[in-house]
Amino acid sequence: MVLSMENTLSIIKPDGVKKKLIGTILKRFEDRGFEIINVKYVHLTKDEASEFYSMHKEQPFFEDLIGFMTSGPCLPFIIRGEDAILKVREIMGATNPEEAAEGTIRKDFAESIDSNIIHGSDSKESAEREISFFFE
Ligand code: RTP
Ligand code: MG
Repeated sequence: MVLSMENTLSIIKPDGVKKKLIGTILKRFEDRGFEIINVKYVHLTKDEASEFYSMHKEQPFFEDLIGFMTSGPCLPFIIRGEDAILKVREIMGATNPEEAAEGTIRKDFAESIDSNIIHGSDSKESAEREISFFFE
């Protein structure tokens, strides 16, 4: 199988920043061989969070999601490495921490499906869109 070098977008969400997990989370990716090639500290407005998560705007959880993502500063960052888009999602763990595998970030630190510490792009198209959203 040929592995491809990819960039993907992750965000340490407001709960992760409040819990002082920035160092711990970035280290997990570095320890797995990934490079952190850009980082930003930002408090999203409602308009920005709504645009970022626009694919979910018809979902019943949308208002809660936007409230949560604007509840404090967050830390978007770009991760680079082989098969980064899929691998980062694996290291994060399932959306619902109750379903996340042992040793994943969400299993270890997330409180609930609404407050789940970290975001990661879910496809090549999302990664491109989300990197541009924060960094271009
Ligand atoms: P994210 O986009 O934040 O990385 O999370 P994800 O891909 O694992 O999950 P996604 O389906 O994109 O949902 C985005 C965020 O919305 C909240 N959510 N709540 N109550 C629910 O059923 C529900 N489903 C999703 C989660 O906080 C999720 O991270
Ligand atoms: Mg998602």
